[in-house]
Amino acid sequence: MHVKVPPIKCQGIKTKLVPFILSHIQWTEQEHARWIEPFLGSGVVVFNLAPKRALLTDTNQHIIAFYQSIQKGGINRSIVSNFLKEQGDRLLKNGADHYYEVRDRFNQFSSPLDFLFLNRACFNGLMRFNSKGGFNVPFCHKPQRFAQSYITKIANQVDWVAKQMAGNDWEFRVANWQETLIKAQPDDFVYLDPPYIGRHTDYYNAWNLAEAERLATVTKQLPCGFAVSMWLENQHRQNSHIQACWSDLEMHICQHFYHVGSREALRGAIEEALLIKPGFSANLDTIPSRSFAKLCQ
Ligand SMILES: C[S@@+](CC[C@H](N)C(=O)[O-])C[C@H]1O[C@@H](n2cnc3c(N)ncnc32)[C@H](O)[C@@H]1O
Repeated sequence: MHVKVPPIKCQGIKTKLVPFILSHIQWTEQEHARWIEPFLGSGVVVFNLAPKRALLTDTNQHIIAFYQSIQKGGINRSIVSNFLKEQGDRLLKNGADHYYEVRDRFNQFSSPLDFLFLNRACFNGLMRFNSKGGFNVPFCHKPQRFAQSYITKIANQVDWVAKQMAGNDWEFRVANWQETLIKAQPDDFVYLDPPYIGRHTDYYNAWNLAEAERLATVTKQLPCGFAVSMWLENQHRQNSHIQACWSDLEMHICQHFYHVGSREALRGAIEEALLIKPGFSANLDTIPSRSFAKLCQ
């Protein structure tokens, strides 16, 4: 499977795990059934799957507003290309001053184009917000960031997600995971990728053990199939939350290397688990479901 990358980056982005995730899930897309992602993040999983119907939510209003803009045509390849060319020229001329000008502007007006600019010009590709919800990642110190080839790459990524959405019935919405899970119907499939407990905590990622335990309780009562991504083990320790809350599910494991993070401690090899409701794991020798069989070739 050739995985494509969306225009927005975020901590915990599953780009490298998309083939692992999609190849292990068995879901037959019935009429009216939806792919539901309550922790959308960059959207890399759903964009590569491209189901006919989807409910895609996140508490981060900027992510949702960005994809809604693409869906409505307010942002497209040429708008992004022109915008990044203009802002990139100013960045080259004024350096960090321009970056911080855009950051202040974004924190006042929340423009999706400014969000994209900051996401691609900030330090280490981080997405982090202070306690008042203000984007607070510093500049990456690369005034020459927006070379024409880089702009073209981002514009193509915008165009790709626009094409993946086109003709499909996808709803993007700002919501807490609980509001989203209540909407799940028996034929839907829910893919969950919650924040890591105690990691990357910020305004949109206040995730702790109590919240993680609530998620497990509610998820296990869903009327439909579901799969949960979660780290299993790193060089220091095992994730005891899996044993405590998710041990009755089918578990598949994949080794993964994280490179997004400000500190060395946030990088390195990690074992990722995909926990699937019994009965919804693909038999990888004979995958009957249409989309995944195609994706795994
Ligand atoms: C690990 S990231 C998802 C990454 C995504 N699967 C990807 O590959 O890009 C977790 C996401 O959950 C969102 N989030 C955090 N707390 C949430 C909550 N209580 N309800 C819904 N979304 C939440 C964050 O804003 C973040 O985008």
